[in-house]
Amino acid sequence: MQIAHTIAELRHLLRHSLHPAFVPTMGNLHDGHMALVRQASALGDVTVASIFVNRLQFLPHEDFDTYPRTWESDCAKLAAAGCDVLFAPNEKELYPEPQLYKVHPPAELGDILEGHFRPGFFVGVSTVVMKLFACVFSEAQGRRAAVFGKKDYQQLMVIRHMVQQFALPIEIVAGETQRAPDGLALSSRNGYLSDTERAEAVQLSLALKAMAAALKTGDKDIAAIETQATAMLSRRGWTPDYLTVRRRSDLQAPVGEEPLVVLGAARLGNTRLIDNIEV
Ligand code: PAJ
Repeated sequence: MQIAHTIAELRHLLRHSLHPAFVPTMGNLHDGHMALVRQASALGDVTVASIFVNRLQFLPHEDFDTYPRTWESDCAKLAAAGCDVLFAPNEKELYPEPQLYKVHPPAELGDILEGHFRPGFFVGVSTVVMKLFACVFSEAQGRRAAVFGKKDYQQLMVIRHMVQQFALPIEIVAGETQRAPDGLALSSRNGYLSDTERAEAVQLSLALKAMAAALKTGDKDIAAIETQATAMLSRRGWTPDYLTVRRRSDLQAPVGEEPLVVLGAARLGNTRLIDNIEV
């Protein structure tokens, strides 16, 4: 695996690439990220990953400074998973001046759910992903693909719409959520959990599963389904931000018969976890 720390080095390494397949990450890699890298390997001729902890997508009180940085083990894992080129710029390289131009997703998608509880989050995500795409794909000669996990369901949707709206010639491919044996979705933030919290953490996915099960049995009272799941987690000591049933197409409230997704975000102690299940 070759490593580029600057945009110029990256472009040089990729100068003959025909079909790059790209997996952007913030590092502290786990099997969820690795599954995306393996999926990317089957999509292109050069597999590219990036590690960049993007300050733009963190609120001032969030965990930017303490976000786990595990460079050595990340490199070993990427190499083992078949990554060919790792792009790991520092902040000065990616944002040499303050990034004055930013990508603003439409409010209907970018300011709901995660965007409501983390204002500016999707501006930060969209801006960095746009910029990473410009770095990674500029030399490509043909089909370009980027893989994003369904674990961050709304993020995947925001990026899909961005690519479509800006007519970027990039195929956005979704990777399934990888879970621990008990069902907890793998996440870099799981490392913040104490042993007791780790044992409790699976309850978020269980709450979402219960909501999905209720929908499958034909229960149409969505408000009641949401309230019940929220109350269950609150009783167990969680602070839920939202547990909600949405239509898959645009993450708005469902109106009729349409494919649905159940999404949840809740804090357990100081750790904020998110998860979702397609119904
Ligand atoms: P990060 O949280 O490191 O996640 C990188 C990619 O891994 C994202 O596409 C995310 O959805 C995916 N991922 C995380 N956990 C997963 C799991 N359990 N199963 C499958 N995929 C999983 O998401 C980001 O970084 C950033 O917002 C980024 C897109 C890199 C922009 O800064």
